[in-house]
Amino acid sequence: MLGPLTPRSRFIEVFLKAFAQTNRPRCASTSRQPEHIRTFISENTEVVGKQSLTPEIKLRLFTPTCRFWRERPELWPFDDPYWAIYWPGGQALSRYLLDNPAVCRSKTVLDLGSGCGASAIAATLCGAAHVVANDIDTVAAVATHMNCELNGLQPPVCLSHNMIGSPPKGFDLILLGDMFYDEALATSLHSWLDHCIRTHGTKVLIGDPGRAQFEEHRIRRLLRQLAQFELPESVREENYGLTCSSVWCYHPELSGP
Ligand SMILES: C[S@@+](CC[C@H](N)C(=O)[O-])C[C@H]1O[C@@H](n2cnc3c(N)ncnc32)[C@H](O)[C@@H]1O
Repeated sequence: MLGPLTPRSRFIEVFLKAFAQTNRPRCASTSRQPEHIRTFISENTEVVGKQSLTPEIKLRLFTPTCRFWRERPELWPFDDPYWAIYWPGGQALSRYLLDNPAVCRSKTVLDLGSGCGASAIAATLCGAAHVVANDIDTVAAVATHMNCELNGLQPPVCLSHNMIGSPPKGFDLILLGDMFYDEALATSLHSWLDHCIRTHGTKVLIGDPGRAQFEEHRIRRLLRQLAQFELPESVREENYGLTCSSVWCYHPELSGP
């Protein structure tokens, strides 16, 4: 339950509202140049390292010291800044990759719904041959570039069009960090992932902290759990008491004949 509107709960309220929305197409204003967006991101985020499941990855994120933590949400000039949060599903997925580098090594990897780019960064650190970060928010692509620079890495290819439903490309591995927050999105993802697996034998890994939309979706019965991580205290506090986040591998054949 939301308590009185403290700065943090006010901020989280914005995200709850965003999570309640359907998967509407979103894009940043094309009149804004990336340099302008870079400056905006620099001025309105803080470099964060230690508080996540992957302390070895530095990211520019919202923290309580940032202006928009307590600012009126309507003053935010872009679409909802999902990229400014390192979501628990993405944290678990990135942790799993860093602990199991062979999963990505020499592979072509797509991080779909890449947000801040942490899972794409983890895949790069693990020696992936080629990494693509896809997020329909064009500001996320700028944030991903900046986060790669922070970690001394070449940025991945960043794509901002909606790939879900398009003819599948031959990726070895698709990563989905906290992408099952909306039922319609989950359903379209599910059928597209089936298509990718049938066409190219792509492996699919999902990170999720047990959101209702994930637990209740029919894809959930077709997943094998690979790992579970306890969330750090600060991540729990920011996520309404979620305590753990898991990594799952999608096995459509589990549905039986
Ligand atoms: C909850 S955030 C997860 C971000 C990141 N994976 C993480 O775990 O930190 C969901 C992200 O998916 C993006 N998104 C939503 N629908 C999408 C779509 N159809 N294709 C690509 N990205 C999408 C949003 O813009 C947002 O950045």
